[in-house]
Amino acid sequence: MEQLQNIKQRFGIIGNNNQLNLALQKAIRVAPTDISVLVSGESGVGKEVIPKIIHGLSHRKHAKYIAVNCGAIPEGTIDSELFGHEKGAFTGALADRKGYFQEADNGTIFLDEIGELPISTQVRLLRVLETGEFIKVGSSKVIKTNVRVVAASNINIPQAIESGKFREDLFYRLNTVPIHMLPLRERAGDIHLLFRKFARDFAEKYRMPPVYLDEKAQVLLSNYRWPGNVRQLKNITEQISIIEKERNVNADILQNYLPANLSKNLPAIFSKSGDEGSFSTEREILYKVLFDMKRDMTDLKKLVLEIMENKDAPISGDHANVIRNLYNDEDGSFIPKENSAQKNIHIEPVNKNSIQDTEEYVEESLSLEDKEIELIKKALDKHNGKRKYAAQELGISERTLYRKIKEYEIKG
Ligand SMILES: Nc1ncnc2c1ncn2[C@@H]1O[C@H](COP(=O)(O)OP(=O)(O)OP(=O)(O)O)[C@@H](O)[C@H]1O
Ligand SMILES: [Mg+2]
Repeated sequence: MEQLQNIKQRFGIIGNNNQLNLALQKAIRVAPTDISVLVSGESGVGKEVIPKIIHGLSHRKHAKYIAVNCGAIPEGTIDSELFGHEKGAFTGALADRKGYFQEADNGTIFLDEIGELPISTQVRLLRVLETGEFIKVGSSKVIKTNVRVVAASNINIPQAIESGKFREDLFYRLNTVPIHMLPLRERAGDIHLLFRKFARDFAEKYRMPPVYLDEKAQVLLSNYRWPGNVRQLKNITEQISIIEKERNVNADILQNYLPANLSKNLPAIFSKSGDEGSFSTEREILYKVLFDMKRDMTDLKKLVLEIMENKDAPISGDHANVIRNLYNDEDGSFIPKENSAQKNIHIEPVNKNSIQDTEEYVEESLSLEDKEIELIKKALDKHNGKRKYAAQELGISERTLYRKIKEYEIKG
């Protein structure tokens, strides 16, 4: 127990959640062995500290620790990065190159986003895990190495196995000891603790007093869904620390920093926690909500304009349709009670087929692909073309972003 507290302090880990403690204890226990460890958990939950603990508490601690983000290395060069190449192995291989597996001899390699490894690289990796042997690209000489591998993934690997993207034998080899990090929303008790720690850190960094949350704001913070987990909490704390003059933050102010909390309105869709599909579904729902809102706005604007143009004419016909459309939700269950403002509105019986969308709505592209391109461009713009940060913001891996930029021929 005391060791656990020491480790938390040494590695800057905040939280008292039982599952978090168990995950850390597991890391501490396997550290002295050479067993492979696979860390799983959503993006931003704090997976990266696990390999650091494992390396730092092992007999390998004086040798190298190399962290490789497999998702950020283009497919064409990943074998050479990991295993090295010989001079002349491919165009541009002007000299011999040592790979990470050779560099990290007697140390630890952390393979982040392991699910992004191409199948051919997975074969090489399995071999080095099983025999400690590998061959440089373009060479035939077998090289020995003694490396401890810790891998991490924020995708569901069993699912990737099913779709043929990940080798089952490699999964079992890596997953000798699995360590799962819970999403932040499932350890709500730690959320405010983390906020306070980040608020203190940013206060120090920016030389200003720390921000505090009042009681209602604390409740709001703890009930939020945190799709980007601890990373998102940290970012938001930083934004508030910089932007808000008033250091006592209430719920109204905090709300401005929390992106739409869809889970509250749509509980059924998000009830399957850990469902890898939820991110894209969430995005699709968001699009739908936005489009619906845009259509309503367009209808309203058109209506207001026309009313302004013929002030005295009674509202009827097309206008009535628009109004009815705006007030009806899909199953027509919400129809406003008559009130004085609406007494003047005569609503004609509407045939559903006669309801026409406005021109603007028809022109608005509903293609997810177009929206994706638009979002990618925006994210790249916002981060001055830095793909790493753009990918983080979009919630996809750098490699996926790279692929999409190529696929859609996005210039940036
Ligand atoms: N328990 C914690 N205490 C303090 N800081 C934390 C904790 N968990 C995570 N963090 C911080 O949150 C940020 C995100 O964590 P990390 O980079 O480990 O996420 P990850 O799980 O590796 O995400 P990804 O899958 O996107 O790579 C880091 O800045 C990390 O220091
Ligand atoms: Mg990471």
